[in-house]
This record gives sequence, C-alpha cells and structure tokens, in this order.
Amino acid sequence: MSRAPINHIGLLTGGGDCPGLNAVIRAVTKTAIIEFGLEVVGFIDGFRGLVENQYTQLDLRSVSGISHTGGTILGTSNRDNPFSFLTISQGSQQQTDESERAIGNIKNLGLDGLIVIGGDGSLNIAHQFHKKGVKIVGVPKTIDNDLSATDVTFGFNTAVDTASGALDRLHTTAESHHRVMILEVMGRYAGWIALHAGISGSADVILIPEIPYSIDAVIAKISQRYRQGKKFSIIVVAEGAVPIDGEMVIQNLVPTSHDPIRLGGIGQKVAEDIGERLTDIEIRVTILGHLQRGGSPVPFDRILGTRYGVAAVEAFMAGKYGCMVSLQGTQVTTVAIEEAIKEIRKVPLDSDLLAAARGVGISFGED
Ligand code: F6P
Repeated sequence: MSRAPINHIGLLTGGGDCPGLNAVIRAVTKTAIIEFGLEVVGFIDGFRGLVENQYTQLDLRSVSGISHTGGTILGTSNRDNPFSFLTISQGSQQQTDESERAIGNIKNLGLDGLIVIGGDGSLNIAHQFHKKGVKIVGVPKTIDNDLSATDVTFGFNTAVDTASGALDRLHTTAESHHRVMILEVMGRYAGWIALHAGISGSADVILIPEIPYSIDAVIAKISQRYRQGKKFSIIVVAEGAVPIDGEMVIQNLVPTSHDPIRLGGIGQKVAEDIGERLTDIEIRVTILGHLQRGGSPVPFDRILGTRYGVAAVEAFMAGKYGCMVSLQGTQVTTVAIEEAIKEIRKVPLDSDLLAAARGVGISFGED
C-alpha cells in the first residue's frame, strides 16, 4: 500500500534547554528541505506554541550558523503540557486538556506530523499525541543523560565538560587554601554528570542518587587524605544525592511542571555535616546550576545533534512513527518512544565506570 505524500513537518523543542538543540534544529530543517523538499514549521516555546498556534517557518537561512550556539532558537518550556494546560481565567488558574486544540493546529497548518526534541517529560507528551494518531518522531535531549533506550542524549557531554572544567578550577584554589571544596551538579535521579565529571576532574568523593552515602565514610576519606599530607579534598555531589536514611533536598516546587520538584542544597548539607565534625577544616560550596545547561555545545554534541536531526527526518520519511532516534554503541538507530520513557536510566551499580572510579581511589561515601 502506498503512503500519502509527506510535504510539511512541524518541529518543537520541549523541556529544559540543553546545548546541541540548535544543531538538531538545523539538521532537521536542512535534511527536510534539501533531501526531501519538505516545508518545516517550528513551534515557539515548545508545547505552548503548539497549543497557542505560535510558530515560525524554518528555512535554510533561519537555521544557518546556529550549530555551535547554545539554547534553542525556537524557545522552550518545561511547564507546558497540552494534556494538562495551565490557563489563567479571571485571575484564577486552571488546567485543562488542550490536546485536541493542538491537534487542530497541526491539521490546520497542513502538517503531516511532528518531530519532538525533548527529554523524559516532553517525550511522554509526544507519546500521548502518538497514541491519538499524530505522526511523531522523537529526539532524545537532556543534560542529565537519564533517558532509557539510548546510550547518550545530546547535551550531556557539554554539561560534563562544564562541570569538569569547574573542578579543575576548584582544584587549584582548594590546594592553595587547604580546603574541602564541594561542587553541586545537576542530576535529579541519575548521577551521570557527577560521575563523569568527578572521574574527569579527579574528585576524591562523588555522591550520586544511586548510592546513598554515609557522611562518616565521606569524613573518613577526607581524614585519610589529610593523614597522607593531602590537606585538601574535592567532593562532587549530584543534586539528587541522598544520605543513608535521609531525603533528597528540595529547593522548591513548580506545581505546573511535568516534574514539579526542583532540587538544590545537598552540597550545603554535606558541607554542614562535615563541618560539624571536622571543625578545623574550611569548607566551601559551589552550585554549578544552569551554567551546565548554557553555552556552546562541545563538538561531540554538535555532531550527535546533527546525526540525530538527520536520522529523525529519515525515520519520519520511512514511516517510523512513535519512534525515537537513539545512539546504540556507535550507530544511530531508532527505538519505540515507549521504551525510552518507561523508566529513568540510572547509573547501574555494576557499571565499569564505578569500578574505574573506585580503582583510582574515589569514594562514593559507602560504609
Ligand atoms: O532535567 C534537566 C534539569 O536541568 C535537571 O537536571 C534540573 O534539576 C532541572 O532540569 C532544572 O529545571 P529548571 O530549568 O526548571 O530550573
């Protein structure tokens, strides 16, 4: 059976921004226009633009010279979900299902379907649209690298580069002042950034959500180094790290977001808990925060973003709806979006990365 011709596709970036988004937008647009002669529409500010019919025509000129730039030329939002869309009417907030309105906009614009660049939350929404019959292809994005069914999300390597660079800088000042330096990095439920940056930046202690830590073990590591004449220590802590028998440190809640919890503050807690016991040692905390999400993507993310963008259009044209492009080993392939959003991809406890870190003496705060 021959398929109806495809002429127009829509594109949006959803969720928190991430270095490499523009490389994907450029690759999708160029491939769609040059290889397949399509027209491309980009929705503004993620799913909000889809619901409110805010869009821009993407052409070769509008995506020229953006591959090396951070952010997203389309804008994004990690709050707007068409299936539970926040509106304010006569001063009061309400959440309504606006998915049919969004689908109406897709039809009225004559779009054959959508390419959604997003993480767990946005791909969940994309999957719901797919179940309602919208033709969707997903592209995996998040600095946290915690999406299942792909080895790497684009943006992750840039975040690691930023965090590792921060550790290099903290090292010299830590050593000069004989201090304990704590770097808090992003990673809500998975410690990929902390682990990679910690190994790359020669941390002494890495605390990740997957391994609840004992403060006694952290103190033991600092004390051991002190006895060996190393009067400074570097600790990397993921924002979602938890003490044994303790809780994640929540900074605030964003009730309208798909994932309302905003973490932050675990670095300060670790500092206070160490400070209570090691009263002679000076401790300083740096929260890297959104610096990890901003700025120019490293070459790996520009290249991966480009590969993902090209592959997404090819998958769409091949009729692989409901799929997400994915890196498996060295190959870009496709998987069902459902597989990617089933569960968060955490650092496996038998990972050779953990073994390598332990091999060079890094402590995970285990008893
Ligand atoms: O999921 C990406 C992420 O950067 C998390 O690591 C972080 O906890 C969260 O987004 C921060 O979100 P916001 O942009 O709302 O501060």
